Amino acid sequence: MDKSEFLEKYSSITPPDLGGYMEGNAGGSSVRKIEGQVLYNICKVFLPKKILETGTHHGASTNYLLKYAQEDRATVYSFDVSSKAGSSIIKELKSNLVLKKSRRKIFPNKVTQADITKIRNLVVKTAQQGVDLFFHDSDHCYDNAKWEFDNITPYMKKNSPVIFHDVLHKTDKLQTNKLFDEIKSSWKHVFNTPSGMGLIVL
Ligand SMILES: C[S@@+](CC[C@H](N)C(=O)[O-])C[C@H]1O[C@@H](n2cnc3c(N)ncnc32)[C@H](O)[C@@H]1O
Repeated sequence: MDKSEFLEKYSSITPPDLGGYMEGNAGGSSVRKIEGQVLYNICKVFLPKKILETGTHHGASTNYLLKYAQEDRATVYSFDVSSKAGSSIIKELKSNLVLKKSRRKIFPNKVTQADITKIRNLVVKTAQQGVDLFFHDSDHCYDNAKWEFDNITPYMKKNSPVIFHDVLHKTDKLQTNKLFDEIKSSWKHVFNTPSGMGLIVL
C-alpha cells in the first residue's frame, strides 16, 4: 500500500471516542483522544493481528488499540516498567490484552536497569514470535527508542507500520523525532496532533 492509498482509506474511517489525556479518563503523559483515534484508524487500514506497544502508562493508547483488536480479533501486547501501568484500561476490552509490567511496586523515579532489562527481555521474546504493528510510547530518549526499534522491527515484515508518539517535540527527554528522521523506510507520515504521531512504513 502506498501513502496516497493509505491516506484515502484512513480518512474514510470513523474512530470511537474513548477519551484520553485532558479529554476524560487518563492522566498526564497519556495520549490525547485525537492521538488514540490516529492509532485506531491506522489499525483499521493495516489490519494487524499482533500489536506490540511499549509504554502502557494509564492505558489511554492501549484502549484505542484494544477497541480495534476486539473488533478485528487481534491481540495487543503492552509493556511497561511501572507496576501501576494499565489503571485506566476499559474492563470490557481486557480480553484482547496481554499486559507485561514490573511485578515489584516501584515509583517511576526508582526504576533500575534490572527492571528495564526484565521488560526488554519480555519485549524481545514477544517480538520474536512476529509483530504486525509496533507503537512506541515508553521512554522517549534516543537510546531507548533506538533500542526498541532495532530489537523489534527485525521480526516485522516489510510494509508493516511503526508508530512513534511525540515526534513534534524536541527536548532533552523527548528525542524520538531524531530517530524518526533518520530511519530509512518505504514511506513516512506525521499526523499533526498536539504531540505529533509519526508513522513509518517499513
Ligand atoms: C508517556 S507514558 C505512556 C502513555 C500511554 N501510552 C498512554 O497513552 O496512557 C510512558 C510510559 O513508559 C513507561 N516506561 C519508561 N521506560 C520504559 C521502558 N524502558 N520500557 C517500558 N516502559 C517504559 C513509563 O513507566 C510510562 O508509564
